[in-house]
Parts: sequence; structure tokens; C-alpha cells
Amino acid sequence: MSVLSGKKVLLGISGGIAAYKSPQIVRSLISSGAEVQVIMTPAAKDFVTPLTLSTVSNRPVYDAFTEESHDNPIWNDHVAFGKWADIFLIAPATSNTLSAMVHAKCNNLLIATYLSSTCPVYIAPAMDLDMYAHPANQQNIEQLKKIGKKVLPVGEGFLASGLQGKGRMLEPEEIVSYLSEDIKAQQPLFGKKVMITAGPTYEPIDPVRFIGNHSSGKMGFALAEEALQMGAEVIIISGPTGLTASADIDRFNVTTAQEMYDRVIDLFKDVDIAIAAAAVADFKPHKIESQKIKKDRLMQSITLAPTKDILAEMGSRKRENQYLLGFALETQDEHENALKKLRSKNLDAIVLNSLNDPGAGFSSDHNKITLIHKNEKSISFELKPKTEVAKYILSQILTHHA
Ligand code: CTP
Repeated sequence: MSVLSGKKVLLGISGGIAAYKSPQIVRSLISSGAEVQVIMTPAAKDFVTPLTLSTVSNRPVYDAFTEESHDNPIWNDHVAFGKWADIFLIAPATSNTLSAMVHAKCNNLLIATYLSSTCPVYIAPAMDLDMYAHPANQQNIEQLKKIGKKVLPVGEGFLASGLQGKGRMLEPEEIVSYLSEDIKAQQPLFGKKVMITAGPTYEPIDPVRFIGNHSSGKMGFALAEEALQMGAEVIIISGPTGLTASADIDRFNVTTAQEMYDRVIDLFKDVDIAIAAAAVADFKPHKIESQKIKKDRLMQSITLAPTKDILAEMGSRKRENQYLLGFALETQDEHENALKKLRSKNLDAIVLNSLNDPGAGFSSDHNKITLIHKNEKSISFELKPKTEVAKYILSQILTHHA
């Protein structure tokens, strides 16, 4: 999922030749999952039609303070546009628009909306090379940067005047990726590598049968998606589940506890935060039969051998700056057993799941947890969707792991 997914983007288009590329900006934002509302200056309509923009954005396009086509003109509420937006992108921003923004010259809907907006503003200037280099424009750009507006760089190359140089608006794809990268860099887990184990493990008895458990993997996958949304680089090591993960998540599929152990230990040294949400089988058959065991061969018992404790191994290898969170699935003496695991596995926190809580459990979409920190302070949450629970867990990790 892109960081722009679900974001409301107000695209302000001013009157320069680069405006002909603005439908492509709309397309690119929409294909990243954003909602786009276009407003344009009257001059921009000379370069690109409102009909084109409303078709690609699937919304009406506004360019004036009122809708004159009605008998009783309707006011296009610039304050509401400003409040609606999560991000305001002005592309292209001409010399005239930059100047109006700096000096609060509120002579069109775009500038009025800019002056009323409180969300982050990104500005993609576009002009000829000497205009762009002119101290008046450079000062305006500096002024806008000084008050916290994000002014994108310009491209270099062939300009409408026939001259070559710096001043072109960045290409639509470059603008959208600038926005995405900038949003990512502001996210709380940006620069952090998070590894999550999820799902069950299957321990084969013979080529057909296995020892497994009811884990669906939903909690681990919800944590992975949420960590991604918070800007982390995410690795998920998943036992057999039917779940899909966003393409940006680095996914390793495993089947047995030993395969999960090998993958985790290989990757653990490079991660900042590790979360063990997998329901790893504690035992495996001592011997895997190479042929299917026939039912007439009476089988009274299977000799079992313990699997390796993956989380305990991470705990013993944990460095000072690594954060390790485990889960404890309990049916009795829940708090006490979870605390024992927290200490014996050298964890920073443990999430206690009780199978006694109605509505919570393996294949449910909901979970009810208590999070216990290593200082033994604990927080209990109500029954919530696993996506919400994932948010709580990660925000707790953030507060305790700088
Ligand atoms: N875990 C693990 N490797 C194992 C067993 C458990 O990494 N072989 C991890 C789980 O992912 C979980 C935590 O250890 O984060 C606790 O798992 P749980 O099944 O509750 O406890 P166990 O340690 O297996 O102990 P018990 O089954 O006796 O309660």
C-alpha cells in the first residue's frame, strides 16, 4: 500500500504551459490510492480544460469563487477545500502564483484556498530559465520555504521558449514520488527495520500429515501492514496462511519451526525491532516417515522432539539498541505466565492473549490484549479489530524504543 493511499490531495493548477501535464499528476496520485480534488486559476484553463481534469479526477473542478452557471450563484467554499485536504499540491506554480502566495494577494480561488489551508503544502514551480533564476522569484521561493512550505526542485531541459536550462516543472511521476518519499520520511518508523513472525508452523509426520495449530496469521500480518504505514522497512516471516501482504513488505514463507528459526536468525542482526507473533509448534515428530503411514499400521503414539525456541534465541542475541516483543498465549495464570516468558526470553515487552476472552483468539478478526513492558507496567485494551490492536502495539513500541 502506498503512503498516499487514502490521502486527500488538493491539486492547485496555475496558468503555465506545464499545466498540460496536470491530468497525468491526477492519474498518478489516484493510482497511488489518493483522492484528488482539483482547483485551478482562470489562466490555467487556457492550457488544460476543466472537463479533462474532472474526468480524470472523477470530481467537479473549481476555478472561481462562485458557480456562475446557476441562477443563484453558489459560493465555492475555499475554507472547506483547505480543511478537506491532507496535502495541498500546487503544480505547476507560476511566477505569478508564487508571488501571490508570498504576498497574500487573494485574487483567485487557488490563492484563497492556499491562504485558508492548514495542511502541508507542496509547490512545484514551473517557468522559463531566466524567470526562475530571477532574484525576485528565488526570494519568493526562499520565503515560502522559510514558512515551512515544501518547494520542489525544478527540472532541467527543453523549455517552451526554446531555451534549454533549469525551470521545467518536474515530471508528474517525479512529483508524486517526491510527495511519497517526503511523507515517508516524516513517519515515526522511517529508517527502522521491523521483522515480524506470523502464522502457524507445520511439523510433518509423514508426506501427508502434520502437527499444527489454528493460528491464522492475522495479528502478525496486521502488525506488518501497520508498521509499513508508519514508514518502516518490513520483513514478515510467515508460516502457512492464506493471507496476502502489501508488495512493499519483504515476505518469506516457511513451513516448519526449523525453517522459521533459520530465516529469523539469518535476518535478526540487521533489524531494529522484532515481533514474534507466530504460533510456533513447540514439538515436532522425532522422525518424519518418508511414506504415508497406512491406517492399518496401528499407530499408538508419535515420539516427539522439541522445536527450537525462536524468540528465546533472539532474546539471547539481542543487542542494546534492538527491541524485542513477544506474544504469550495463555489459558491459566495468564499474567504470571506472561511475565515469566518476558523475563526468560529477555524481551522488552510481551503481549498477553488469553483464550478465556470471548471474541479474541486465533482466527478471529478481533483481539483483546494486555501489553506488559519489561518494567512490568501493563496496559489492557478492550476487544478491538486486529488492525487497531496492531496500531496500539506499535505506538507502545514507539514510546518505549526511541
Ligand atoms: N515462540 C517462538 N518459538 C517457539 C515457541 C514460541 O518464537 N518455538 C514465541 C512465540 O512466537 C511467542 C512466544 O514465543 O511470541 C510465546 O509463545 P507461547 O506459545 O505463548 O509460549 P511458549 O514459549 O511456546 O511456552 P508454552 O507453550 O509453554 O506456554
